[in-house]
Amino acid sequence: MSDPFQDVDKAGNDFAEASAKTMEIRQSEPIMERIVERYLKELQFETSGLLVEIGCGAGAISRRIAKHAENVTVLAFDPSANYISIAKRDKEEFPNLSFSVFDGEYIPIENGKVDNIIMHTVLSHLVDPSRLVKEAHRLLRSNGKLVICDADFSKATLASSPDDPLSLASSYFVKTHVTDPHLIGKIKPLASKFGFGIEHFEVTGRVVNGNGMRMWVEVAAKGMLESGNISPVLAEALVAEHDFRVEREKLYGFLPFFTFILQKF
Ligand SMILES: C[S@@+](CC[C@H](N)C(=O)[O-])C[C@H]1O[C@@H](n2cnc3c(N)ncnc32)[C@H](O)[C@@H]1O
Repeated sequence: MSDPFQDVDKAGNDFAEASAKTMEIRQSEPIMERIVERYLKELQFETSGLLVEIGCGAGAISRRIAKHAENVTVLAFDPSANYISIAKRDKEEFPNLSFSVFDGEYIPIENGKVDNIIMHTVLSHLVDPSRLVKEAHRLLRSNGKLVICDADFSKATLASSPDDPLSLASSYFVKTHVTDPHLIGKIKPLASKFGFGIEHFEVTGRVVNGNGMRMWVEVAAKGMLESGNISPVLAEALVAEHDFRVEREKLYGFLPFFTFILQKF
């Protein structure tokens, strides 16, 4: 099974709706709010300007950007028409924010017109992240900044003990829903290849005690059941074990997030 985030529309509308909900829950966690606030602060917006978000999904980050930088025009792009229609539906509207369906390999803006670009958990889902970094370099003005915020999925876990059965869920989810769990090690070489300097780098641990990684367990249970590797008994038990731990405040999910801020030379 290949990572459905590579082509969300192919994965179907139910996947888009469910994953949009999960990303909204993820983004409302205090630690995730802090991660986004920190990189937005580092960008030091002028009183006006143009910010492009590439791979905006259903807009969980876009609305936060538009609120933070209310004098800036925010253009948010995603190749998934399903996500863009969710982003436009039933959500708080901002006059400075608009959504359009475009792949990050080509954004219809002239060279050097953009002040800042954000890619939030996008590149870990691509076979070749260099194409988006190259396009970002074309779009940015000189000294413009590119924020790459993503998860170091290679360190993701739901395990609280050795041989914890919930570790199956985290490893299954990463194997089936992430294209490059080791992306973090590739950003520095990509930055120098395309003429960016690294202005800022940090890693923050996201600890999950609530339902923020429930989708991971549901996906793993369903996938292993459908492939005939486990019975419905174990599939149900994995999700029940997750919920039992959440109820008793015993769940420990962990996923480090990294932020690179690159500056165009
Ligand atoms: C995990 S989602 C993150 C969405 C959003 N940035 C967020 O954090 O809520 C990954 C996103 O990357 C998008 N994506 C996949 N391939 C892409 C490409 N070639 N160009 C731009 N975005 C892409 C997907 O459509 C999806 O919206």
